[in-house]
Amino acid sequence: MSTGSFGKEKIEELRKLKEEAKAGGGQKRIDEQHKKGKLTARERLEILLDESSFVELDMFVRHRSHDFGLEKQRFPGDGVVTGYGKIDGRLVFVFSQDFTVFGGSLSEAHAEKICKVMDMAMKMGAPVIGLNDSGGARIQEGVVSLGGYADIFLRNTLASGVIPQISAVMGPSAGGAVYSPAITDFIFMVKNTSYMFVTGPNVVKTVTHEDVSSEELGGAITHATKSGVAHFASDSEAECLMGIRQLLSFIPQNYREDPPRISTKDNPDRAEAELDKVIPDNPNKPYDMKDVIKLVVDDGLFFEVHELFAQNMIVGFARLDGKSVGIVANQPAVLAGVLDNDASVKAARFVRFCDAFNIPLLILEDVPGFLPGTEQEWRGIIKNGAKLLYALSEATVPKITVITRKAYGGAYDVMNSKHIRGDINFAWPSAEIAVMGPKGAVEIIFKREIEKAENPGEVEAKLIADYTAKFANPYIAAERGYIDEIIEPSRTRPRLIRAFEMLETKVDTNPKKKHGNIPL
Ligand code: HXC
Repeated sequence: MSTGSFGKEKIEELRKLKEEAKAGGGQKRIDEQHKKGKLTARERLEILLDESSFVELDMFVRHRSHDFGLEKQRFPGDGVVTGYGKIDGRLVFVFSQDFTVFGGSLSEAHAEKICKVMDMAMKMGAPVIGLNDSGGARIQEGVVSLGGYADIFLRNTLASGVIPQISAVMGPSAGGAVYSPAITDFIFMVKNTSYMFVTGPNVVKTVTHEDVSSEELGGAITHATKSGVAHFASDSEAECLMGIRQLLSFIPQNYREDPPRISTKDNPDRAEAELDKVIPDNPNKPYDMKDVIKLVVDDGLFFEVHELFAQNMIVGFARLDGKSVGIVANQPAVLAGVLDNDASVKAARFVRFCDAFNIPLLILEDVPGFLPGTEQEWRGIIKNGAKLLYALSEATVPKITVITRKAYGGAYDVMNSKHIRGDINFAWPSAEIAVMGPKGAVEIIFKREIEKAENPGEVEAKLIADYTAKFANPYIAAERGYIDEIIEPSRTRPRLIRAFEMLETKVDTNPKKKHGNIPL
């Protein structure tokens, strides 16, 4: 069949319109974007997605506003590029805000485009990734823009726990606009070019008289270290986008699926003699729990989440015999691995993500207890510690604990003890499982004897030695069956792999209810 000249013209016209849409707000604004050290919306998608896999939707959508001269500026696409593509061959839905069009601000039409891909992602059971770079609500549009935000917030909430939602903040995210990323599962930020805050530096200055830069108030490092709002702070946009790809490799497409299994050459029976030497002779000496993690998991690869926040707690993903696990570990090298407000909230949120998406949990425990003090109590260590207790109690995925050293007090219960449905609870011979550490315990229960003694120092030392011999070990807990097996540290990897394999068919449920009431 021959193509007439009419058909040819139509095709030429379509191509021209598409080129126009791809130019966004024009070359001048694209150059400005590059000058700021930022990529354009489309350049970002090219890095994020598998080569040539992106399919764009709604390229010709335009706003319908006639106020403040907007009718004269109707860019095709209206400031957001949306569609679907693949990451490692798996379907994902994406939206990428285009700062070159009205500063990526959100209009009614822009919001409708985002909602469309979110709705499709829910139907298809695939993750949604949002690349945010926006001046917030399109000011000229007023309330319809606010309505558009709320339409997105509702979808974020309904999609929570159904499909993974990932946000990258790659420019401004201010005002109520921050709440869409905040509801999603993970937030990536880029150092020096992105910021998030509810009110910017000018408003802060007027209200509280504080002088603060955008970076200090809400930059990547601020949110990755101080507030915990961001899970990742990347050095560049490319690193951020590659990080999203890596994260997705550990998680399933939706709550009905299991995470992908990746083949590994790492021997499942690998014993690791180094582990027998990790625990220092002095129980008060720190060691780095990340060394333990790397010696145990496949190929030493640990993808840490929230690396810079509450570093006394470690959370992240790894694989054991090719299968994803979520790791929650106390870090004795920071604040002795104590549980405090930030560590509890960090771990609780991670546990809930893993449980929602069928990712088994490995808990590595070396915890001296909860951090005392007014600062902790007044900030709510009671309700925040309870969040972790609640999250681990309600989780029904396979849950394995390894107590490497200290498991004291309430923290013993909280860190996935047998009593809150730990499936397999291992201890190393170096484990100390008791109500509190020997010194504290002796000072309370033998207070009078020590006071009355002629040489209190000696008496106390003897009592501490007795208490240590009796309680600073895993055998009493093992006698009760609270510990399933005491293992040689070098055998940790094969033991974990066997146990997780055994747990693969685990079915556990919670009582029927509308939803629980986690202590927020
Ligand atoms: C319409 C906007 C816009 C907005 C930026 N632009 N923000 N247009 N609505 N919200 C336009 C600018 O007019 C400009 O257009 C272009 O985008 C680039 O902006 P610049 O200011 O030149 O860029 P820059 O210097 O990098 O500054 C970026 C910025 C600043 C810090 C984001 O533009 C800014 O402060 N914008 C307003 C932010 C804001 O107050 N948003 C509302 C927040 S309240 P031209 O044509 O000159 O290129 C909110 C409520 C959400 O969002 C509520 C949800 C519940």
